[in-house]
Amino acid sequence: MEPSKEYLLKYKGFYFVASYTSLEYVASLEDFEIKDSDTFIATYPKSGTVWTQNILSLIIHEGHRNGTENVEIMKRIPWLEYKMGDEDYANLPLPRVFATHLPHYLVPRDLRKKRGRIIYVTRNPKDVMVSYYHFSKFMSTLEEVPDFNLFMERFLAGKVFASSWLDHVEGWYSHAEDFNILFLTYEEMKKDLRSAVLKICNFLGKKLSEEELDSVVRQATFENMRRDPRANYENLPDSMAAKDKGSFLRKGTVGDWKNIMTVAQSERFDEVLQEKMRTLPIKFIWDINDEM
Ligand code: A3P
Repeated sequence: MEPSKEYLLKYKGFYFVASYTSLEYVASLEDFEIKDSDTFIATYPKSGTVWTQNILSLIIHEGHRNGTENVEIMKRIPWLEYKMGDEDYANLPLPRVFATHLPHYLVPRDLRKKRGRIIYVTRNPKDVMVSYYHFSKFMSTLEEVPDFNLFMERFLAGKVFASSWLDHVEGWYSHAEDFNILFLTYEEMKKDLRSAVLKICNFLGKKLSEEELDSVVRQATFENMRRDPRANYENLPDSMAAKDKGSFLRKGTVGDWKNIMTVAQSERFDEVLQEKMRTLPIKFIWDINDEM
């Protein structure tokens, strides 16, 4: 039942991927200096992080939008708590955008003083869990749990990288007042990408022409991102990802959980989470045909 210590690192009750960070570094992030133009994409894993990274990059960087620049998405929008090299985050060109899976209580202190912006994306947790299950087979830095039932129990108990889904989402929503934050859902992005891109532009105070907006929306669709090696995280080192076992952009749908979870598993999931989820101010979409 317990996750392997080889893969996970625990700091203040939260699990990090052990191979890419250290206790000293995550502890130092409280003091990470925020600039007013900073934006953070905060998510629980598998909620649409890479998608949102691409949308932001397309909105902000003309050279990404028109294809004249060829920069890895992880270089443009690096991970706050997982540094891939010795980049100097303090001196990145402005505006800086970071991705993070941190819970609300571990982010840089300045963000809590409403400096910078946060975009927090959620997704229905059954799809998150199924996506996560496939992902843990593909990422060499995560423990593979081939038995889906066991994976589900770990997920429900928060014994996975990024800990409990419910605590993460609940924490961010219940502390929304402390932050300058925009909440989005994976499902609303899926149903109406253009509106979601517009919401992000408004939040960033960025005005795009109709043509630019069309270009962002077109390039941020699942099919187009999947074809783009930078958008797809395809250039990850072999030590991180076993590419024969999957990819970052897997299915990109709403309701894939129905293809893997049995009725009994779905009921077990509901038994643990449904009641607690009622207090969340989010209308979860479990099927693409559900009303928003
Ligand atoms: P699936 O595994 O269900 O396909 P994250 O980036 O937070 O790790 O989330 C990964 C999930 O987002 C994957 O879900 C992936 O396919 C999906 N995703 C990434 N880009 C997407 C896009 N443009 N449209 C829809 N889903 C996307």
